[in-house]
Amino acid sequence: MNQKHIYVTRAISSVGLDMLRAKGYAVDVGSDANPPSARKVLRQLRRKPYDAVLTLLTDQVDAAFLDAAPQAKIIANYAVGFNNIDLAEAKKRGVTVTNTPGASSEAVAEHAVGLMLALCNRIAEGDRFVRKGKYRGWLPMGFLGSDLRGSTIGLVGVGGIGSVVARIATKGFGAQVIYHDVNQNAQVEADYGATRAASLEELLRRADIVSLHVPLLPSTHHLIDAARLKLMKKSAFLINTARGPVVDEAALVDALAAKTIAGAALDVFEFEPKLSRGLASLDNVVLTPHIASARPEARDDMSRVAAQGIIDFFEGKVPTNKVA
Ligand code: GLV
Ligand code: GLV
Repeated sequence: MNQKHIYVTRAISSVGLDMLRAKGYAVDVGSDANPPSARKVLRQLRRKPYDAVLTLLTDQVDAAFLDAAPQAKIIANYAVGFNNIDLAEAKKRGVTVTNTPGASSEAVAEHAVGLMLALCNRIAEGDRFVRKGKYRGWLPMGFLGSDLRGSTIGLVGVGGIGSVVARIATKGFGAQVIYHDVNQNAQVEADYGATRAASLEELLRRADIVSLHVPLLPSTHHLIDAARLKLMKKSAFLINTARGPVVDEAALVDALAAKTIAGAALDVFEFEPKLSRGLASLDNVVLTPHIASARPEARDDMSRVAAQGIIDFFEGKVPTNKVA
């Protein structure tokens, strides 16, 4: 049997790469620290007849990409999201696509809750205040925040990540959870007393904190737009650790500037890595650079899950993490 060749577009946790090499596959890894240009990735892909490509969420896997690796019948995406992959083009070529479900759920959920706390306790704002030398002594009426305890957290999407947020919010903080999802989730209802909102609109009207945990699909693009932001309470916070384009970022900047909602915390951006005009100068927004799953444990798991999908595929099995 010919040796299998795998291209990994950038350095990732070595756990999965070791699994692939242990199987005797040849693994080449791109050397860029930051996302390489699409043109550069195509050039790398054309160097060898690769049998598999392990991609990152920053790679646009489109027709040109797939044409540059015509022998690759599996694309393993090192992310739970797979909106960077044109599934229709993959399907046309009979290419299997996998993701890394579950591997980052705890980390991303903890980051979402961290962002909630950053807003409720005004952590980032307080940090800026102290660094600017503005702190003159304890303020009996300054920086008043809000409690997670007793608050209503509205989860838009309760898959792997949303379910963990529900657990932490209810068991850890005594918050209530309502959710909106295309599917009923009997487990989060039974385990955490979560209730399913009749509609997204109802959730937006009722929630003190709205946290997004849906994949980016045509149906979730700008799911949170100007009209829906208007439904949120004036005191409410919006948390996005999912994908930037789920929120109309220009509408969000307007809502934050006009204070029709109290605040937002974003780990992902509509035009990532660019920020919409005005976003960074707002005081009521917390911004992190897509780091929710940036933990050694999560990245090792993502690497393991991505590699196992490739191994299963080469060994004639259907990967359990196949998305298409
Ligand atoms: C990260 O954003 C992921 O989709 O895993
Ligand atoms: C995301 O929802 C996951 O399943 O990890």
